[in-house]
Amino acid sequence: MDTRISSQLEEALVLLKAGKLVAIPTETVYGLAANALNADAVIRIFETKNRPHFDPLIVHVASHEQVADLAIDISEAAHVLMRALWPGPLTIVLRKHECIPHIVTSGLDTMGVRMPDHPLTLELLRSLDFPLAAPSANPFGYISPTSALHVAEQLGDHIPYILDGGECSVGVESTIIDCSCETPTILRLGGTSVETIEEIIGPVLVNAISTSSPQAPGMLHSHYAPRKPLLVGNIHELLHEHGNNVSILSFKDGYHNFRNIRLSETGDMHEAARNLFAAMRKLDADHHELILAEFAPDFGLGRAINDRLKRAAAK
Ligand code: TXA
Ligand code: MG
Repeated sequence: MDTRISSQLEEALVLLKAGKLVAIPTETVYGLAANALNADAVIRIFETKNRPHFDPLIVHVASHEQVADLAIDISEAAHVLMRALWPGPLTIVLRKHECIPHIVTSGLDTMGVRMPDHPLTLELLRSLDFPLAAPSANPFGYISPTSALHVAEQLGDHIPYILDGGECSVGVESTIIDCSCETPTILRLGGTSVETIEEIIGPVLVNAISTSSPQAPGMLHSHYAPRKPLLVGNIHELLHEHGNNVSILSFKDGYHNFRNIRLSETGDMHEAARNLFAAMRKLDADHHELILAEFAPDFGLGRAINDRLKRAAAK
């Protein structure tokens, strides 16, 4: 299949209305989108990504009003979060309306929904009369794409169209918060920090790394992973143990005698998050045997960065 890459909306609209797949830009990562109300279109997402059917998709909307048609029992906390943080990198889990096909939610009676903060994709969503189901546009288990080129490298030839919205400004996936239960619970750390959420709705539970939970398969330990081994810890100790055929993914400091990518020379967490996945891809593609990485400070977006590093390191 010939994959076209462009920032024109027309063709994306035609394809999506015809039940086809289109890769779309968001502020977090690129998504692989289809009409969320069309089960046959959604099945193609799973096939194209090689994604297991037990891993539910996120539904993308253009407005708060649209959520009222797709979800039921929307809690006050969910309303408050939508008003404060949408459009933005926050997915809210709510009980789903029956119009959402089971394939989208992997049979769960809840669904994840978010309004992405990207002008092109918001315009696309506003021009459609259905929401878009979209997981990250990478083969299952690999690093998420943060540019149109990343998508083309891996899914080109399998999809007809990539809507090019430039590089993603946040760079890690949305934070997922479950608002269908008594106490709002964060299921995945991501582009909205826990601190930001707690300032708005008060204390939440954080249940972000649980490999055993069948409800949140995206929480599988090994995920977002490069093909070559990645070890995370103290760089000096790791160098001592693993010798010279390595590249280094550091947060802030430089390692001048090595192939090294620094996520942010000034230690800026937003810049580091934005650079993380592209840096992993680059180091995965060079000739060294191993990637040695270090954690960011464990607060704010640093927690999401560290979560992705742990998963990339998991076997
Ligand atoms: O930033 C993002 O969220 C990106 C962009 C494209 O929007 N999307 C994304 O989708 O990261 P994906 O498919 O890679 O991750 C979706 C994860 C699933 O793996 C699952 O863990 C969680 O969302 N999820 C979806 N629906 C859920 C539900 N009803 N209950 C619990 N978790 C759910
Ligand atoms: Mg993903």
